[in-house]
Amino acid sequence: MKLLLLGSGGREHALAWKIAQSPKVEKLYIAPGNAGTQEVGENVAIKADDFEAIKRFVLENSIDMLVVGPEDPLVKGIYDFFRNDEALKNIPVIGPSKAGATLEGSKEFAKGFMQRHGIPTAGYKSITSANLEEGLAFLETLQAPYVLKADGLCAGKGVLILPTLEEAKKELKEMLGGMFGNASATVVIEEFLSGIECSVFVLTDGKHYKILPEAKDYKRIGEGDKGLNTGGMGSVSPVPFADKAWMQKVEDRIIRPTVEGLAAEGLDYKGFIFFGLINVKGDPMVIEYNVRMGDPETESVMLRIKSDLVDLFEGVANGNLHEKTLEIDSRSAVCVMLVSGGYPEAYQKGFPISGIEEAKAGGSIVFHAGTAIKDGQVVTNGGRVIAVSSYGTNKEEALRQSFTNAGKIHFEKKYFRSDIGFDL
Ligand code: AMP
Ligand code: GLY
Repeated sequence: MKLLLLGSGGREHALAWKIAQSPKVEKLYIAPGNAGTQEVGENVAIKADDFEAIKRFVLENSIDMLVVGPEDPLVKGIYDFFRNDEALKNIPVIGPSKAGATLEGSKEFAKGFMQRHGIPTAGYKSITSANLEEGLAFLETLQAPYVLKADGLCAGKGVLILPTLEEAKKELKEMLGGMFGNASATVVIEEFLSGIECSVFVLTDGKHYKILPEAKDYKRIGEGDKGLNTGGMGSVSPVPFADKAWMQKVEDRIIRPTVEGLAAEGLDYKGFIFFGLINVKGDPMVIEYNVRMGDPETESVMLRIKSDLVDLFEGVANGNLHEKTLEIDSRSAVCVMLVSGGYPEAYQKGFPISGIEEAKAGGSIVFHAGTAIKDGQVVTNGGRVIAVSSYGTNKEEALRQSFTNAGKIHFEKKYFRSDIGFDL
């Protein structure tokens, strides 16, 4: 088979690494990819949301399957674009329809969906400038801290958690006034949930599902989970508190009702569902849905999937996922993200990177996130630069290996958190 994978981050390098191991794959292309994906496939200079260019490439190169990494093309309707095109309609797309992707594209829709299907989540109210007074009154009924979420996609920046009622009221008005443009014309006000988070992933063909290994990610820039939010500084899989009993609750209360709810509402969904969960006194509740894999969770989750991922994708495409087997590696897998100094605020790009081969020789798997090739040399090209992933018989052993190998990779102003997994 010939596959085209869309995206360019660490998640896509990890997906490409796993896809390329499948004996079913004759050729893997990644659009646009990064300096790492070209080690396992061929990069194509096409943006992940340039549908016409993707169509031309797919037809000219007889692509058999499209796999979508990031949410953006899904929310913009790449699945529907393929289904509605005479020449493309028989080529499977791994990723939901535009309507299905609304689970991530609209927080208001996601909250309503959970309410309709009895899926546990924080209490909420959806507010626009037309019912601002109702929003202010709802805030008065809540306890600090206050959670405000822009309805639309904001590149991970649309959630504000505010310590006082005054700040919450002020920020609500500013969000509705266009703080995140049109994405915050509607704001979801939520009850604050206190607990430890866990990311759970499934692959679904719209009817059946397979539960992939869960992971925990570390979003803050500073050790001890202090400082600004980032795209993710590391991840650990499995998550000790996500034991058999807890995962059974997740499946019964959250996963099954979600997959059945999507089908009942006629939302075409063939792809990954990412459940952002929080463990509230032993009970899982949904913080958010994403319609893609997580980053940097994928950089540990892919290590734990022993089965052929492309065979599972065929099950998704053909609606017979229940006939496929998903075998999971019992070892721990972790990833530690190396970032550019200054990130998530201003940082410089273009610094040469050395030591990648030494880190690999030390037993880690190195996934590129924000890298590029300049004059034959791998250089930094983003805030999150490289994920150093490792296996271990337990998370401590895996983390030790990743930290040691993270120390072998050098670029100017490199930073990483050396406390990934500290709270587990
Ligand atoms: P989201 O973009 O919805 O994942 O929100 C970003 C982060 O804000 C989450 O990962 C949580 O850490 C936090 N968060 C979101 N909603 C809540 C909530 N209702 N209670 C507590 N924390 C939340
Ligand atoms: N790691 C969280 C995300 O991918 O949204």
